[in-house]
Amino acid sequence: MDSLPSEAEQHERIRTTVFQSPDEAVRLVAASLARLIRRRQDESRTAVLGLATGSTPVKLYRELIRLHRDERLSFRNVVTFNLDEYYGLPPHHPESYRHFMEVQLFSHIDVPLDNVHVPDGLIPRSEVFAYCQEYERKMLAAGGIDVQILGIGRTGHIGFNEPGSGIDSRTRMVALDRLTRRDAARDFRGEANVPAYAITMGVGTILRAKELVLLAWGESKAAILREAIEGPQTDTVPASFLQRHASCRCYVDEAAASELTRFRFPWKVGPVEWTPELIRKAVVSLASDLKKPVLRLRDEDYAENGLAALLVETGSAYSLNIRIFNELQHTITGWPGGKPNADDSNRPVPANPAQKRVLVFGPEPLDAELGMAGTLHRLRRHQHEVTFAYLTSGNLGVPDNEARMAISLLNELSVDRPADTQGKDRLDQLSDELEKKAPFDEDSPMLRQFKGLIRKAEARASCQVLGLDLEKVLFQDLPFYEKGRYRQFKSTDEDVTAIRELCRRIRPDQIYITGSGAEPGSVSGISYRLVTSALEECGAEPWMKACQVWLYASSERPWSPHEINMAVPLSPAELAVKLDCLFHHRSQRSQTPFLGTQSGESWQQAENNNRATAQRYDRLGLAEYEAIESFRRQKESEARTGL
Ligand code: F6R
Repeated sequence: MDSLPSEAEQHERIRTTVFQSPDEAVRLVAASLARLIRRRQDESRTAVLGLATGSTPVKLYRELIRLHRDERLSFRNVVTFNLDEYYGLPPHHPESYRHFMEVQLFSHIDVPLDNVHVPDGLIPRSEVFAYCQEYERKMLAAGGIDVQILGIGRTGHIGFNEPGSGIDSRTRMVALDRLTRRDAARDFRGEANVPAYAITMGVGTILRAKELVLLAWGESKAAILREAIEGPQTDTVPASFLQRHASCRCYVDEAAASELTRFRFPWKVGPVEWTPELIRKAVVSLASDLKKPVLRLRDEDYAENGLAALLVETGSAYSLNIRIFNELQHTITGWPGGKPNADDSNRPVPANPAQKRVLVFGPEPLDAELGMAGTLHRLRRHQHEVTFAYLTSGNLGVPDNEARMAISLLNELSVDRPADTQGKDRLDQLSDELEKKAPFDEDSPMLRQFKGLIRKAEARASCQVLGLDLEKVLFQDLPFYEKGRYRQFKSTDEDVTAIRELCRRIRPDQIYITGSGAEPGSVSGISYRLVTSALEECGAEPWMKACQVWLYASSERPWSPHEINMAVPLSPAELAVKLDCLFHHRSQRSQTPFLGTQSGESWQQAENNNRATAQRYDRLGLAEYEAIESFRRQKESEARTGL
């Protein structure tokens, strides 16, 4: 039996369970699906599962495959219906959802092929309506869906029910939202290639399932998840209609749950233990809500906004304000490598050693530049020994057109070097492949390598803008990435070993990495876990005792000042250097440049976030800067080093 919601969960209109990691969550969900399937086997009945695609359910499918392989769970009595399919894609297309399901699940289990249903993306337009009705009829004929697995898109969609989808909507053809297409752009190598339409079960169809399971991982889902779970039911957030279902459960990781009231404002939903972090969070959010600088908050402000308990514990607003103001003030430093010969008792970074060995990890080219180009520039100017290690080549993100351009350039060059027949042969092979290639065919290893070279050239050019020593700009080309593709990456010990050996060689005083809150199957999510494992393996080594590990922000979500442990201000000139550096990653610019200003290109987002952070500090009553790059201490490293 379900327990009742706790006091902390009182704002949540969908029962939500938060897990430390998606692995724990999917084990639980898979076990309950297995119980259903086995129960039905005992009754000689079928179990009808509604399935989703995308990154979210990948781990769940891996666990189901494991249960099939190791615990002899048979799927012979299972009937499946998928939520959706891109319109216009044939089933064997690498990005079709049918293909996804084959690769991620169907081909690994014993579900009879006749039992699986994925909407057909090639139905002629005039027959779509009848086809969709038939899809619904088949679901009913199968006895209705027992459990529907769902992910949530950043638009709040479930299936492809974009904002505007009504609660009674049925299986139908829909146009995809701009944000959804942008999110799919990586898979399709450019937004322009993402299909504009899809066939999807409707919200009403989904709500008819007997049980719903909504999964969400990573901080990029946090904001929309809060709206779906705590907000009003509205067709602008179609997932909010899940609140109507009596048996809907939501399973999320901590990053995706971070915007729920119980984590955002825990003091609003029950008694709390006032830790220093929570106090800082409460004061910063009070000042932000009231649009007042911290030092001008009054006793009444606290009392009238649910924070009387905080005053009881900490005394008057006066002393509390000063304390938090000082804490915020001490996060600001123009010396990210430490200020030599200065009292460092209130600085985020120790003064010694004056010249530090700094190791910066970029999951893919551009990630670290977006998060900390200004700081990299600063570290270099302050004479620190900066090693910048790109963990993956990022070759999957290079559109064919960029490769064509580079080939044309090299061909021109080889006119002057007729002796280089080998090089010329390779260029011819690459041109040939590009010419023959259907838009979504996978690249050969040679083409992937070539595209990797393009990204490396861009990366080197951008590092030069920052004044980095190119000898210390390293390309790790981790095997998990080179051997995989999006949603199908599988890391191994080889990846960890490469990182561990690099760390051992450099023995850094500071490490910078990102991805702690990223979707776990993404390149930065995987990279973060690999670095963490490598550091654990180095745990006992002497250099680790004083090595600070800093997390830099992704461009997805600016951090609030209460979350920041080090804020590095950028002057207007430094911000210009940062943008110059970002622009050198030209293959990553939107392929639809005229829409650039609205399209939220990553560097615009990074610039906006850096400016927004500066404004937030300013509004809290601290100094007014042009922009700020923000960093958090990694908890494990803080516990280890005390720094
Ligand atoms: C996929 C589907 C979509 C996804 C959603 C999240 O069948 O119906 O609603 O669940 O777009 O996608 P990911 O999991 O890739 O973040």
